[in-house]
This record gives sequence, structure tokens and C-alpha cells, in this order.
Amino acid sequence: MSERVRVRAGLSLGRLPAGHKLKPLLAAAAFKAGVETPRLAFPDRAWDAAFHGLDRVGAYRKLSSTRRKDVLKHCAKGLLSESCHIEKLGLAFTAKMSLLSRTEDERQLYALFAADEARHLSEISRYLPDGPSAASENPFLLLLGEIIERGDKPGLTALIQVVLEGWGLTHYGSLARACRDEGLRRTLRRILKDEALHHGSGVVIASTEPLGRSERREVEAWLLRLARMVQAGPQAVVAALGPLSRREREKAFAELSCESHSAERLALLRGLIASCGETRAIETLEKAGTLRPLDAAACARLS
Ligand SMILES: [Fe+2]
Ligand SMILES: [Fe+2]
Repeated sequence: MSERVRVRAGLSLGRLPAGHKLKPLLAAAAFKAGVETPRLAFPDRAWDAAFHGLDRVGAYRKLSSTRRKDVLKHCAKGLLSESCHIEKLGLAFTAKMSLLSRTEDERQLYALFAADEARHLSEISRYLPDGPSAASENPFLLLLGEIIERGDKPGLTALIQVVLEGWGLTHYGSLARACRDEGLRRTLRRILKDEALHHGSGVVIASTEPLGRSERREVEAWLLRLARMVQAGPQAVVAALGPLSRREREKAFAELSCESHSAERLALLRGLIASCGETRAIETLEKAGTLRPLDAAACARLS
């Protein structure tokens, strides 16, 4: 019996047109599952300048109040779009893991998690009435899609369920704590509870499925790419300020305390890799210098 399952990550899957006969059936299924679907206005002031660290950045403070609002709106759209695409990838991941499951219990677990991801996708999409920004320019989403399409079961459990869903817990937690829109904050808190279950079960399953030699090589190569993205600091926040010279970008990265920003996230990454018992992968990342944050000048060179 084949252990290989081919899935498309589906970042560019289209939607059915309005009025399609399947739409009311999807709405009925969502209603039956208690999913909230009515569209909401985009919460353009969900996160303030201090959340992004922009209150410390001279290039942001110099902007007119209209431009400052635009920058915050752009950052909020980026955060919600990324979350929306991650939930789409969660659908592909849980479908693949359901088919790769080795027991009936595991298969049930992944099918239930798939329903969670479908709910998360609907509930985040409600806040994006014009749809999410394209995923094609987000290297983190593209890497995630590649891992889901190419990974084997033990590698996927370690990387997606333990490391990345664990990362998601911290990320959604900080988004929820700082969110100034009450409805969205409640939604993020609900998602957080589900993700804790997804991550926790990944830790249990990973402890029973050690990586083989070739799987470890593949997982380490993906972790190296992931760590390099984390090292590069808050690139999306600096990009939201619009075109800046290299010197201005370097100043912005320094004002955003990019080294402590990345150091905190690299420590989280290291802890999550350790939680699936992959101490050898940590050594590989350390040797490659990818667990050290880059300074402001290096972050500016990468943007
Ligand atoms: Fe999710
Ligand atoms: Fe999840």
C-alpha cells in the first residue's frame, strides 16, 4: 500500500462565483457547524503603531496622519491576509495527514482538525471583504506550501504541527492580546484554543515517529530557510513604510530593535525544534550561523 499522498497546497485555489449552486450548501454546512460567516468591515485600526514598534521609527513619525493610517492599515491587511493563507494551508495539511494516518484515532483527529481549519479560514476571511493580499510574494507562505506538498508524515508532524503550529500559538496570542477590535480579538482567542490542541497532539505524535536519515536532511534544509527568514527581522513592517533608501531602512531596523526582535523569535524557534527532540537539527542551524540575529545593516541589505 502506497504511503505517498500528493496534495496541492492550494494557495492560489479560486473561489466559486457568487450565485453558484454550491454556495448555499456551503453556507448551510457552515451554519450547522456554528461557523460565523456574515462579512464584516475591514478592521483597519486593529493594531496600533506601538504593536508594530512604529512609534519608535522616525520615518513613520514624520508621515502625515493620513499616511500613518495607511501604513497601519497595510500592516493589518498583511497580518490578516497571512493568517487567512495559513488557514488555507492548514486545510491541505490536515487532508494529507488524514490520508497518511496509521490508526483510526489519528485519522479522526486530523479530520476534526480539518474542520477547525475550515472554521478558522471562514472566520478570518470575514474581516477581509476585498479578499486577502496575494500569497505569491510572501516567501514564508511559499515555503510552508512547499513543505506541505513535499513532506513525508514524520517530517510534516515535526515541522508543521510542532514547530509551525507552535509558532502560530505565540503569533496568534500576541495578535489577540494587542487587538483593539473586540470581535476580532474574540475570534483570535477561539482560534488559539484550537491551535493549542493541534500543536499538543503534534508533540505526542512526533515523540512516537523519529525522523529517518533522509527525512532529517530534508527537514534541516527547510529549517535553515525558515531560520534565515526569522533572522532577517521585521521586513514587512519596514516595507509598509514605502520606498526608503538603504540608510533610511537601516535606521528603521535599528529603531525597531531588530536584533532583540529576531533574537526572541530565534529562541522560540530553537525551543520548538527541541520540543520534537531534534537536537541535531539545532546543531546544524547553529553551525550555519542561522540562530544569530542579523544587525540593522544586514537586515536593510536584505530588503
Ligand atoms: Fe488554524
Ligand atoms: Fe492548526
